[in-house]
Amino acid sequence: MKSHPRIFVSGPLPGRAMEWLRAIGDVTLGEPGVGVRSPDFLAHAASFEALVTYLTDAVDRALLERLPALRLVANVAVGVDNIDVAACAERGVIVTNTPGVLTEATADLAFGLLLAASRRIAEGDRMVRAGGFHGFRFDTLVGARVHGATLGIVGFGRIGQAMARRARGFGMHVLYTQRTPLIPRLEAALGAAYVTMDELFKRSDAVSLHCPLTNETRGLVSAELLATMKPGSILINTARGACVDEAALANALREGPLGAAALDVFARESTSSVHIDQELLAQDNVVFTPHIASADRSTRTAMAETAAENAVAFFRDGTPPNIVHN
Ligand code: DGY
Repeated sequence: MKSHPRIFVSGPLPGRAMEWLRAIGDVTLGEPGVGVRSPDFLAHAASFEALVTYLTDAVDRALLERLPALRLVANVAVGVDNIDVAACAERGVIVTNTPGVLTEATADLAFGLLLAASRRIAEGDRMVRAGGFHGFRFDTLVGARVHGATLGIVGFGRIGQAMARRARGFGMHVLYTQRTPLIPRLEAALGAAYVTMDELFKRSDAVSLHCPLTNETRGLVSAELLATMKPGSILINTARGACVDEAALANALREGPLGAAALDVFARESTSSVHIDQELLAQDNVVFTPHIASADRSTRTAMAETAAENAVAFFRDGTPPNIVHN
């Protein structure tokens, strides 16, 4: 093992992650929310051999130029769209992520959003707080039925499959799409049927996105695709905002066919700021959460500790468990 590599950690990490990192390296802790953009980090950047990064840290070519000693980027997330993985590979820099540990938490929130959007929970909360509830009425906030409805899942990896299990528990029919179908035994175990993307959008009462952001999925949910959805249908996004054309979504919610949406992520959610389409914000039939799908206490601890384990394993014998391949 190399003695005491210099490690930059973008912000405080829960659990035992900091302790494990300090045991193997000389750790510099960044300012939460600023991370690799901090002038202090940039002043010392040349000596860091590892970065432990959040999604808000853009590790791009410009930054890599300033990090000649860098060998590892351990992202505290499963998504790595904040990192130029190809540029890292060219420089021999290993990138790791935290798959697995946030699967259930993310599916929990996605399913919660599906319930909230279908049954108008956020609208109900706003109505009660505003003093607008004056007793039971048969026609108050009548929403869409969840039980018996068809859920379409885009991206059927760990999180998509965890979403399918929840949906089956609620008596939903499950369709899924991704590049290749699962083997029939797995499909049967999950009670999910493979369809094409077009078919999935046409046949589902609600669609939930669980795909990574790649060149193929950027802008995937376009005006054309939204126009094929059923009247009153629902879109849930806990994946990445840029998978959806937000202006087209606002239009499909206003003019139809969509009945509601729930968004945890936003198209213009960059590493340093968030701009949400004003039209979307103005619509009552959208439930918003601030990118918190993995934010339960034990999951966040597991994510931090997984990132730390990747760094420890890298400096111990060069074999971190969760390498992201270019
Ligand atoms: C991820 O890990 O990619 C999520 O978006 C944040 O937990």
